[in-house]
Amino acid sequence: MQTRTLRKIYRLGNEDVHALKGVDLTICENDYAVILGASGSGKSTLMHILGFMDTPTDGEIIFDGADVSRISANKRAWYRSNRIGFVFQTFNLLPRLSVLKNVMLPFSYSREKIRNQEEMAREALDRVGMLHRQNHIPNQLSGGERQRVAIARALVNRPRVIFADEPTGALDVKNVKKVLALFDDLVAQGQTIVMVTHDLDVAKSAHRVIRMSDGMIIEDSLTEKGKALAK
Ligand SMILES: Nc1ncnc2c1ncn2[C@@H]1O[C@H](COP(=O)(O)OP(=O)(O)O)[C@@H](O)[C@H]1O
Ligand SMILES: [Mg+2]
Repeated sequence: MQTRTLRKIYRLGNEDVHALKGVDLTICENDYAVILGASGSGKSTLMHILGFMDTPTDGEIIFDGADVSRISANKRAWYRSNRIGFVFQTFNLLPRLSVLKNVMLPFSYSREKIRNQEEMAREALDRVGMLHRQNHIPNQLSGGERQRVAIARALVNRPRVIFADEPTGALDVKNVKKVLALFDDLVAQGQTIVMVTHDLDVAKSAHRVIRMSDGMIIEDSLTEKGKALAK
């Protein structure tokens, strides 16, 4: 996945907010990247555009060799439900649905008939160690457990990339460790992950650090872990 001089301008009344000012970024297969930067630097805007949740004002996005910069809302929905997984700080689980049904949600936005949806959801829950809670509802779970269910939901479509916006922001230290260990496992199995964080310790667990400031990328480098792996 690649961007070329990506720009995003939000129009707020008479004011233009330049949230992205020309971002060139390549996310490679099996990358484990964190995006760091002050609040308001454009991290979420970039993730939303890369994740087909929003469109750029200008610039290009290439995904799987196709120019997806200006595709229709329907096509974007297709990519979201078939190619991308999302994890949010506040989990975003539906409170009335069971854990299993929550994990199956991405299928309901997919036009394709997917056989064995339940089986795939159970397999995803198993990967995050939450299969034993498949019939619970979210408020019967701890925060850490909810985030693992949300990760299972992000995994269920076997996405090319998982985007996680501050996924550890609402968790205690013990659960932060669990989520990071889980991400390590997923990356070792070939998953590509792009994660926004404020936490420098969390950033160390990734392989690549992308630093943003004022709508631009000001640093893109390997972490110690990334350097060790590159040898
Ligand atoms: N929907 C929106 N409408 C107008 N301005 C927005 C909107 N979303 C974000 N912004 C502005 O764009 C800039 C980047 O925001 P954001 O990408 O959320 O930053 P970050 O995630 O790094 O905190 C900020 O100045 C923010 O106020
Ligand atoms: Mg943000």
